[in-house]
Amino acid sequence: MKQVLIAGVSGAIGSALASQLLATDSERIVLGLCRNSDAVRKRISDRRLRLARWDAETSTAQELGRSLAQMLGNDDCLDTIIYASGLLHDEHMFPEKRIEDFAAGAMARSFAVNCTGFGTMIRAAIPHLRHRRFKRVVAVSAKVGSIEDNRFGGWYAYRCSKAALNMLVRNLSVELPRRCRPVSCVAVHPGTTESGLSAPFHQSLASLQVHTPEDTANNLLGVIGALNEESNGRFFSWDGSELPW
Ligand SMILES: NC(=O)c1ccc[n+]([C@@H]2O[C@H](COP(=O)([O-])OP(=O)(O)OC[C@H]3O[C@@H](n4cnc5c(N)ncnc54)[C@H](OP(=O)(O)O)[C@@H]3O)[C@@H](O)[C@H]2O)c1
Repeated sequence: MKQVLIAGVSGAIGSALASQLLATDSERIVLGLCRNSDAVRKRISDRRLRLARWDAETSTAQELGRSLAQMLGNDDCLDTIIYASGLLHDEHMFPEKRIEDFAAGAMARSFAVNCTGFGTMIRAAIPHLRHRRFKRVVAVSAKVGSIEDNRFGGWYAYRCSKAALNMLVRNLSVELPRRCRPVSCVAVHPGTTESGLSAPFHQSLASLQVHTPEDTANNLLGVIGALNEESNGRFFSWDGSELPW
């Protein structure tokens, strides 16, 4: 993992991933996509972190393609891509408890950030994946996006958009090996992690194991580091166990 692209590098999990990747290999370059690069720079000052502005709801693949070319410069190749952007709630939306809470706007925004952004990013990154080294393409999904595992209902927009993200991963796991072998494209569940995204639910999550972002980054990098061509097209939990789609 020498040239790593992370979308959502401002988030709790994204920034912990970037910090650990930079700390564990002095030759590694991390390209980070975020909406506010100043905020990221305050947390990670390492010059091997190159940042570009990107908003999953508005940025196009063409704009992102130009940013990637600029950030990569002569390095030109990406060997690891991690999509760690995600939206569960903000001042305009909150996870639905029942169908009366269902709102088209929340569905559209959740799809844009939790699913479409990943597709846009891979579309823009394809020219940088055509090399012979092993590539890892990883979408940070969520267990609640598993259709088979859904026994509680609710959280319509988040669940549906993560299930769609999972389908995008499966689709790419068919196409990418044809175009840029050797590659492994997977979805990962990070485990419940302290972050702005999970903050409103900490009380209801009290019975669950809640990880720090640093522990989650460590767990995910263990899973990502162990990927090989056999793991292509699978959905892994933070401890390396496999989840049903
Ligand atoms: N925390 C958990 O317990 C948990 C559990 C399961 C899955 N996950 C998944 O893990 C991933 C990371 O979540 P987290 O816990 O680190 O949450 P977080 O700290 O809230 O980070 C979310 C990230 O998504 C970015 N984002 C939101 N809207 C965006 C947009 N329109 N365009 C581009 N980026 C946008 C945020 O950027 P800004 O800083 O600009 O807002 C931030 O970088 C998400 O996919 C989440 O669904 C988390």
